[in-house]
Formats: sequence, C-alpha cells, structure tokens
Amino acid sequence: MSGAEDSKYTRAHVMGSRRREAIARMLAELIPVDPAWPVIEYGCGSGANLLALARAYGGGVRIIGVDPDPLALEIARQTMGLSYPLIRARMEDHVLAPSCAQMAVLSFVLHRVRSVVDGLAGVLHSLRPGGRVVVVTLSHRQIRNFCLRDWFPDLVEANLHRYPCISKLSQEIADVGFGDVDVQDFVHRFSWSEVDFSEFVLGTGSSNLARLPLGERERRLADFWESGKGKLERGWDASYTVLTATRPSHDCSAIDN
Ligand SMILES: C[S@@+](CC[C@H](N)C(=O)[O-])C[C@H]1O[C@@H](n2cnc3c(N)ncnc32)[C@H](O)[C@@H]1O
Repeated sequence: MSGAEDSKYTRAHVMGSRRREAIARMLAELIPVDPAWPVIEYGCGSGANLLALARAYGGGVRIIGVDPDPLALEIARQTMGLSYPLIRARMEDHVLAPSCAQMAVLSFVLHRVRSVVDGLAGVLHSLRPGGRVVVVTLSHRQIRNFCLRDWFPDLVEANLHRYPCISKLSQEIADVGFGDVDVQDFVHRFSWSEVDFSEFVLGTGSSNLARLPLGERERRLADFWESGKGKLERGWDASYTVLTATRPSHDCSAIDN
C-alpha cells in the first residue's frame, strides 16, 4: 500500500487508553461545541481519540479525522469500526473547505510534521472565525519526568529532540494568526489497573525496543514488568500540555484562497 512503508501502525496496534477519555472529557468541559459545525482531529491515527471525543461530547457532534497514513485510517475503519469521514491528507494540504470547522484537535502530532507553521496555517484555514484549535503535547519537563523514563531512556532522549518547546510553539501559533493562546498542564492520575500497556509494548516503546538485540530486549521487558509493577501499582501522575487558541473573528486570512 503506497505511503504505508513508514507507518508506525500495524494491524495489531490499536492504541487506546484512559488518557484519551480523560483528555476528551477535559476538552468537553473546557470547550463547548455546536452540533452544526464539525470537529476535526488532524493526525487522528487509528482513531481512538475520535471515539473518545464522540463519547465526551455526546451525540450530535460531527467528527472528521484527517491523517496521511493510509494504514492508520484503514485500522480506524476496519478494526475500530469508525464510520466518521476519514480523510487521507496532511494538515498543511488545505483539503478541507475553508472556515468549515469549529474546533481542531492536534494530539501528539505537531512533533511529526515537517513544518509546524505550515501545519498550523492549514488548521487555521479550516476553522471558522471564533473556531478553536487545541494542541495536546508534551513539554520538555514532562518528557524528562515521564514515569517510565527508567525503562525507556532512549525514548526520553529521542522525544526531547522531537517535541517542540512550548514557548516556541505558543509563538508559532500566534505568528500564524491565532489569538488568545493559552497554555495549561493537564494532569491525569493513573492507577495500575487502568493502564493499557500495549501503547508502550506495541506502540511508542516498541520502536525503540525493536531496535535492540533480542536478549537485551527480553531483559528490558522483564525488568520493566518485574520491578515496574511494584513501583507503578501505586499509581502516578501523567502530565500533558494543552494549548488552546482562537481564530480571530475579524481575520479573513484563512478564506482568501
Ligand atoms: C503520534 S501519532 C498521534 C495519533 C493520535 N492523534 C493520538 O493522539 O494518539 C501522530 C499521527 O500524526 C500523523 N501525521 C504525521 N504528519 C502529519 C501531518 N503533516 N498532518 C496530519 N497528520 C500527520 C501520523 O500519521 C500519526 O498518525
């Protein structure tokens, strides 16, 4: 399948966890939506957030997923059974009608785009005046404090290079033309029983684990399960950064082409 060669998704990799539900509930409290206007998730991947958003906002909200990865979208359709419109595109492609949406969610995606400014410009273009963008990401402090840092030090190191600094990101959001940029921490207290470790074992962590020689990989995983469970079962606070911003009502820049 063309374009799937660099996909990080596999058929077995259906990401999901209480984190999504918690973040979606927080968004539903923070930002009310009007059922007349769609909510878009750019970089929706295999669609777990789309489901969480639909649950948190209740019936009536129109949801659209956008992602360039065909395999992720296929998993969203086939495995997750999603019937929302799912569009294969990058956020910078301007594939959606101008000013068509009231909210755009970008969850753990801006560290993957080639140009944050071009990506955000595409998002601005698709939002109606007064529409909101929500960026869920990690600050460098949060990356360093990652609860599994002892088991995945290479992931911490890689993420420090990958993820943009929050101050730079806020500035870029403003530079693109958004107003009212707001940054807040969102803390979710996990307990052992509610953690879906498939994200670490099949997902994020696996790309690092997969590169290790087999013996080393087995040793790290055994260490993770044995020593980790004792520490982690008490629960821990996972912290994310949530940036919100608004397309100004007087701005016509997003509808001029
Ligand atoms: C780490 S995953 C996040 C998936 C989901 N949003 C979540 O929170 O779990 C990043 C996703 O962004 C997508 N992506 C990468 N570049 C993109 C772009 N330029 N525009 C939109 N999505 C992009 C990838 O295909 C991938 O599915």
